[in-house]
Amino acid sequence: MSIWLGDFFPNFECDTTEGRLRLHDYWGNGWGMLFSHPADFTPVCTTELGALAALIPEFTKRNVKCIALSCDPVESHKEWIKDIQAYNDISTFDYPIISDPERDYVIKLGILDPAEKDRIGLAQTGRAVFIVGPDKCLKASFLYPGTTGRNFNEILRVIDSLQLAACKKVATPANWKNGEECMVLASVSNEDAAMMFPQHVVKDIPSGKKYIRLTPQP
Ligand code: BEZ
Repeated sequence: MSIWLGDFFPNFECDTTEGRLRLHDYWGNGWGMLFSHPADFTPVCTTELGALAALIPEFTKRNVKCIALSCDPVESHKEWIKDIQAYNDISTFDYPIISDPERDYVIKLGILDPAEKDRIGLAQTGRAVFIVGPDKCLKASFLYPGTTGRNFNEILRVIDSLQLAACKKVATPANWKNGEECMVLASVSNEDAAMMFPQHVVKDIPSGKKYIRLTPQP
């Protein structure tokens, strides 16, 4: 990826299924999620865009606006949405899909997959996810190959973790699920931890170092 954690996310103007827009204006003051897929009218992508369409209320609850991207033209995206809705049995489709026929944005974002070629031999886009904070800086990203469909519940789980770290000063451990125990951030002093997380416990471990501080999810 050529976009690193903490980088200011590129703000481009683009054509989408909901008209021409500027990415940061579309995201507004909240969080944003951009996800790319290799091509329209492909089977795994059809399941992914449908899975996200069904979960849009969960993203909205978290103040996250979603946008998809594939290189195909807007007219193709619009035709394909009908298949996505039929296949996934959904009546809504409440997010735009960007078109990038010249591959301007996918090259800038560094998300082409050289292993996957289209009919005329051009590299296709990988399955990238970018989660961007209200400051428009990158908070998390994943990049999968075309053959691996993403888990959109995992993306929600990551967003829950990012928002807890940003607002509540806790981190989330391996395999954490929303509502489970969290860990006080190392940047919080013991004095502040006592005030901010009165129920936290410090785990006894062989090193004697007191760095594992567990708290109910704030
Ligand atoms: C698919 O969406 O089915 C797909 C796209 C590119 C490579 C492999 C699978």
